[in-house]
Amino acid sequence: MVNPARPASRILGTGHYAPSRVLTNRELETMVETSDAWIRERTGIGERRIAGEHETTSDMAAAAGRAALEAAGLTARDLDMIIVGTISGDVPMPACAVFVQQKLGAGNIPSFDVSAACAGFIYGLSIADQFIRTGQMRRVLVIGVELLSRILDWSDRTTCVLFGDGAGAVVLGPCEPADVEAGRGVISTRIYTDGSLAEALVIPAGGSRLPLTPTLLEQKKNKVHMAGQEIFKVAVRNLTSASKEALEAAGTSAKEIDWFVAHQANLRILTQVAARLEMPAEKIVLNIERYGNTSSASIPIALDEAVRDGRIREGQTVLMCALGAGISWGSALVRM
Ligand code: ACO
Repeated sequence: MVNPARPASRILGTGHYAPSRVLTNRELETMVETSDAWIRERTGIGERRIAGEHETTSDMAAAAGRAALEAAGLTARDLDMIIVGTISGDVPMPACAVFVQQKLGAGNIPSFDVSAACAGFIYGLSIADQFIRTGQMRRVLVIGVELLSRILDWSDRTTCVLFGDGAGAVVLGPCEPADVEAGRGVISTRIYTDGSLAEALVIPAGGSRLPLTPTLLEQKKNKVHMAGQEIFKVAVRNLTSASKEALEAAGTSAKEIDWFVAHQANLRILTQVAARLEMPAEKIVLNIERYGNTSSASIPIALDEAVRDGRIREGQTVLMCALGAGISWGSALVRM
């Protein structure tokens, strides 16, 4: 891997949106054969948010986007591009981002989705950074959003207890001379895919391979299916290596990082990755207990919460990493 060039883009504002309905582990005990103790011990999850009946993915994405724009002191008219990381958009076609563009009242700017599951936000951040680096775009809204509750099999205890709904966003803009001097901005991004594990986390039907039929619907083949243990092992390994590469390329180490904002899939994955990186526990931003796994939304939600409550401050360095279906994964190193 080459050493990163100096930062070209920086985060101008962050935002998030979480639906108000809270689904607790106790309620899940009444739906499937599980227990609050099992879910907490194996995952660290206590509750998750569930979107309202009439709420759509783009509603949540637009709400997070508005919050990020407000934090940046900008309006949708200032944007040059919208990238939405999601695998649970409003409709199979067109992209969720086109509905977000309309809801925000942005101009006729390119607006598209990135399908990289839980790594969707890191992928979006990486793409936005490249466009700003070339000078083709100035301000890009990057959103991670999922409405997973509608694509879960609520009778499958091995998946339905893990996930939640939500959205997070950042506005990325070009580094000004003062930012360059202070070393602020997106220092590096790394993105990877290993398609040999595509079937380990998959929605088997509903695409061109298996168009939906009444039988497939009955078999719930249009819902999330996951080989959890297989993903667990590879997640620990790949999140560690992607994070190490980001640190090494920037000539830094976990000791010098202020905050570790990793995808909130499982507390045990997070703590094992942090231990391998020798990242002190007090630097880990955690919210999995309250949201569960919100896939591509999890990093921008955690980032925004930590920015708004004053933990993450200007000038501090944040290491992010995520892995999900594909499998796709990546890391990003950012000085705020
Ligand atoms: N409640 C009670 N028991 C359960 C539950 C549940 N909700 N789910 C599974 N079990 C049982 C299993 O049936 C099994 O029972 P058995 O021993 O009698 O066969 C036992 O608990 C242990 O099951 P495991 O699958 O071995 O449990 P594990 O400790 O591996 O935890 C988990 C499962 C939480 C899914 C874990 O493997 C994991 O987090 N995997 C990674 C998930 C992930 O990161 N996904 C990627 C991102 S998601 C995306 O991209 C959309």
